[in-house]
Amino acid sequence: MAPSFSQIPRSSRRRYFFVFFGIVAMSTIFFVRFRHDQNKTEYVLGRDVLLPQKTISMSTIQGSEPMSLEQEQAKRMAVFKDYCRRHQPNTVKPVANETISRFIVNDKYKILYCFVPKTGTTTTKHVFYNLEHGTNTTTLFLGSKHLKFLSEYTDNEILRRLETYIKFIVVRDPLERLASSWKNKFMDIRGAMRYWFIEHYQSMLETIGDNEPGEKITYQDVNWKHIPFLAFIRAIARNQTRWMNPHWQPVYQLCSPCQVNWDYIAHTETLVEDFHLFFKKAGIVGRENIIPKMEERVGSRFYLEGFMKIPLEEIQRIGELYQSDYDMFGYSFQEDLDNLMKHVIKEKLHDN
Ligand SMILES: *[C@@H]1O[C@H](CO)[C@@H](O)[C@H](O)[C@H]1NC(C)=O
Ligand SMILES: *[C@@H]1O[C@H](CO)[C@@H](O)[C@H](O)[C@H]1NC(C)=O
Ligand SMILES: *[C@@H]1O[C@H](CO)[C@@H](O)[C@H](O)[C@H]1NC(C)=O
Repeated sequence: MAPSFSQIPRSSRRRYFFVFFGIVAMSTIFFVRFRHDQNKTEYVLGRDVLLPQKTISMSTIQGSEPMSLEQEQAKRMAVFKDYCRRHQPNTVKPVANETISRFIVNDKYKILYCFVPKTGTTTTKHVFYNLEHGTNTTTLFLGSKHLKFLSEYTDNEILRRLETYIKFIVVRDPLERLASSWKNKFMDIRGAMRYWFIEHYQSMLETIGDNEPGEKITYQDVNWKHIPFLAFIRAIARNQTRWMNPHWQPVYQLCSPCQVNWDYIAHTETLVEDFHLFFKKAGIVGRENIIPKMEERVGSRFYLEGFMKIPLEEIQRIGELYQSDYDMFGYSFQEDLDNLMKHVIKEKLHDN
């Protein structure tokens, strides 16, 4: 088996001594900065996910600091457009039918929102529901009877909306999204729907062999084996149709990104601030009260915890499969690897 991040080979210890020392120094700086930043890291509670929120101070939003969210948004759009120009030049392909059924329609403010699971969708759906209905709810379970999907309209109505409405999407760092999907669908088991995932994807256990004892999960009279994070990641890394699901499929497979002329690309990591800026840009006035506030301050570093136990070659494979998402939405796989490395070193320092 390939070495995982947490297994630094003993034999090369001497050779790496100085490198290690350098990294320790760097990570100490990082750690101190992280401790400092922690005061500014807030979490907001969605129905089933804790969304980390990088708080951006008001002065940042007003543009007096180097990179305001406004500039950040301009950069995201430029990166995205550049990606599509390079990868899909002169495409006149129509928006896929599958994508059309993922767009939530807000006719009152003329907005289309392409719904990507595990990006803070509960929060986002509530914002659009509240906008459409003039309400202020955060607790309604929003199913298809509460929301209008673009696929419910006639072909002409669909075309007109795609051409004239404001198009909004929320994306998230791919590794963080995968960790969040696994945690939510395979670990935080509440209700029958969660058991559906465990039952439906039992075959993911094939990827880790039979030597794993496998903790049993009992639901009513049935036993299923718990699906470890490693099995989940390996299954995704194998890129097989039977293990695909919108909760972890790349955004480029869900929202035909290059076929849509987006007006705003939000990141889960800055969702609250993105909503404030989006409202401003979309001319939505006097409804800021429905934008969620930062509520809890719960540290959810699960993605680092989870991925540090995954063999590097599997992580690299995930990086390849989600490369488009990384590149078109302004995330960096290398940065994710660096963060993992720093986390591993921090843990090692902590252990010694
Ligand atoms: C997409 O849906 C339209 C009807 O809305 C249909 O005419 C068309 O054939 C569908 N395309 C595909 C590829 O299924
Ligand atoms: C929305 O809810 C908040 C807190 O529950 C309340 O302070 C505010 O007045 C409400 N706004 C509307 C428009 O109902
Ligand atoms: C994943 O599988 C699809 C076919 O389902 C293929 O088109 C694609 O190239 C594969 N991706 C990688 C990175 O191997």
